[in-house]
Amino acid sequence: MKTYLVTGGCGFIGSNFIRLLFEKETNVHVVNLDALTYAGNPLNVQDVKEKFPDNYTFIHGDVADQQVVDEIFHNYQINSVVHFAAESHVDRSIQEPLLFIRTNVLGTTVLLNTAMKHWKEQWEKNRFLYISTDEVYGSLPLDQPEKKFDEESPLQPNSPYASSKAAADLLVQSYYTTYGFPAIITRCSNNFGPFQFPEKLIPLMIMNMIEGQPLPIYGKGENIRDWIYVQDHCEALLEVLHHGKTGEIYNIGGSNEISNSELLNVLSEIVAEQTQVNPDEYEKHITFVKDRPGHDLRYALDCSKIQNKFGWNTSFDFSVRLKETVRWYLENENWILSVKTGAYQEWIERQYSNRLEDV
Ligand code: NAD
Ligand code: DAU
Repeated sequence: MKTYLVTGGCGFIGSNFIRLLFEKETNVHVVNLDALTYAGNPLNVQDVKEKFPDNYTFIHGDVADQQVVDEIFHNYQINSVVHFAAESHVDRSIQEPLLFIRTNVLGTTVLLNTAMKHWKEQWEKNRFLYISTDEVYGSLPLDQPEKKFDEESPLQPNSPYASSKAAADLLVQSYYTTYGFPAIITRCSNNFGPFQFPEKLIPLMIMNMIEGQPLPIYGKGENIRDWIYVQDHCEALLEVLHHGKTGEIYNIGGSNEISNSELLNVLSEIVAEQTQVNPDEYEKHITFVKDRPGHDLRYALDCSKIQNKFGWNTSFDFSVRLKETVRWYLENENWILSVKTGAYQEWIERQYSNRLEDV
């Protein structure tokens, strides 16, 4: 039996990863350590808990809490750590940077130290996968579409979120270089799909369309993101976990760049089609608002390393996956109800009171 410690498994990508792991592998035990912040939702893994009661353990705790992490390594024979837990939203990091340093930097270091101590240099049996982000590379210009970041590109993060992820990314690298610790790093682009908390662009816009709320686009809406379907990301993670080389870094991107404005137009049409409403209904709610401070213009990844080494590639057609994602949000009323209260509502109110000014 192989035991995985997955951190942040009640969040968006972590929950999709755990589901895929159980689909693809037998004879595994998953220990999910999650602090259940506003972004963590037990419903995200409810089905897993019901289907695999003997192979799934949830631990409500903080990755930065040394005692909790120690106890987990003491109580379970952890073979691999897949470290998702983080404060993950750029806008929040601008308002509350210290929380990001605590969870993302201190939390990662506590995990590294504890795994080091318990694994006792039996590195060949173990793996520590750190889920980093393309935001560590900083921003690309809009007028040089041929430019992309590869794994050798320098780290030039701009937001407190990206800087905290870069700090943790460098710490993970230093544990490999200094101690030979069996770490691997992946840097992924923007994910979309089911179970994403509606503070991130795609689910926020879907929810706001359903709720008849304004659709706030920062600045001119010209910023470009490279979208990847969450399941493709998770499949790449399994590939890297099993076949990747320790000490290596792998970019994972969707090769699917689109500006925020264009994306919103596509999304309005899809939601309109599925709700049988005239797309103008949604388009008239598009509101250009004050820009995010330090807003990165464009992200794009060169993924030839993971493609050449593992033959991995994205399997998706963007508009098909976007349609499926919209349908998921329309069909999962209980989930929507669970996120609509509390943090989502507060966030919407705070965003609107701060931001809803025409540029
Ligand atoms: P998310 O915000 O949806 O989920 C984060 C999870 O971590 C939540 O369940 C939360 O409760 C948990 N958590 C937060 N602080 C914790 C703590 N101190 N201790 C234990 N658990 C804690 O995030 P996500 O979008 O699923 O992202 C997961 C990881 O992937 C993050 O590390 C993020 O930086 C990285 N990443 C995300 C994207 C993306 O597009 N979403 C892209 C690249 C990389
Ligand atoms: O690139 C990977 C990163 O993608 C991850 O590391 C982060 O965890 C994840 O949050 C995401 O960061 P972004 O800042 O790119 O995602 P977000 O969904 O917040 O914003 C996407 C784009 O849409 C960005 O250019 C800002 C813009 N935006 C966002 C929101 C929430 C708007 O115009 N309006 C909005 O209301």
